Amino acid sequence: MLVSAKEMLTKAKAGKYAVGQFNINNLEWTKSILLTAQELNSPVILGVSEGAGKYMTGFKTVAAMVDAMVDSLGITVPVALHLDHGTYEGAKACIEAGFSSIMFDGSHYPIEENIAKTKELVAICNEKGLSLEAEVGAIGGEEDGVVGTGECADPDECKMVADLGVTMLAAGIGNIHGKYPENWAGLSFETLEAISAKTGDMPLVLHGGTGIPEDMIKKAISLGVAKINVNTECQLSFADATRKYIEAGKDLEGKGFDPRKLLAPGAEAIKATVKEKMELFGSVGKA
Ligand code: 13P
Repeated sequence: MLVSAKEMLTKAKAGKYAVGQFNINNLEWTKSILLTAQELNSPVILGVSEGAGKYMTGFKTVAAMVDAMVDSLGITVPVALHLDHGTYEGAKACIEAGFSSIMFDGSHYPIEENIAKTKELVAICNEKGLSLEAEVGAIGGEEDGVVGTGECADPDECKMVADLGVTMLAAGIGNIHGKYPENWAGLSFETLEAISAKTGDMPLVLHGGTGIPEDMIKKAISLGVAKINVNTECQLSFADATRKYIEAGKDLEGKGFDPRKLLAPGAEAIKATVKEKMELFGSVGKA
């Protein structure tokens, strides 16, 4: 059964570790992430962007696949199925489709509009027992084709949004989706400390988990980050393993082409990436 992310994140914040959100794109990725979480006895959040949802033929298909897979693989660790960077309409569609957690990204709206829409979704999610993530301050890089520049959130705006009763808050602290540029200034711990001081027990979310140095990840967790999103790193490890397999000509060995064998090295590579991140985030054994 899918669960809301509330309990796992409350525990993570109190225990000073973070739960990983790993984005899924297909059946193989989902299976790799779930099996690794189970093996490591770690809670896990499966992230689905609107683009990935469309690719997998819609949110209903995704919810049905994940729900059935949790059951058929005998997964007993807490699993939340979470919309990543949802629009207002996307959020409503995922609530309808059976997701257990929603991110409404209203960071591109003026703060008043972000607040009004977030407030409405808080009421719906509370009624249905779903967790809700809000965003303040744009996160740089590319999110489903939309390119933003890293921006540090205003701690007072963070408090206003946290006070609406959201479950967790994504606040820009100089983090960027995808690979970090050579001249990246690093995370703004000053901003993170100010946001933490204003938002108290609220679990904070760090997007752009790919390529942030380990010491920065650990420091961010010590300052209140309880959820870290990882997408690009799984994509890169999947692509790299698949390319090596093809370059070695292994896809053409044997009697006939077997797509299951072609995808197997990538699926194994994702398991290794997820394991590495769960160990770094400290969520191993915390299910
Ligand atoms: P990366 O792709 O940089 O790992 O970021 C993932 C993310 O934040 C999804 O919301």
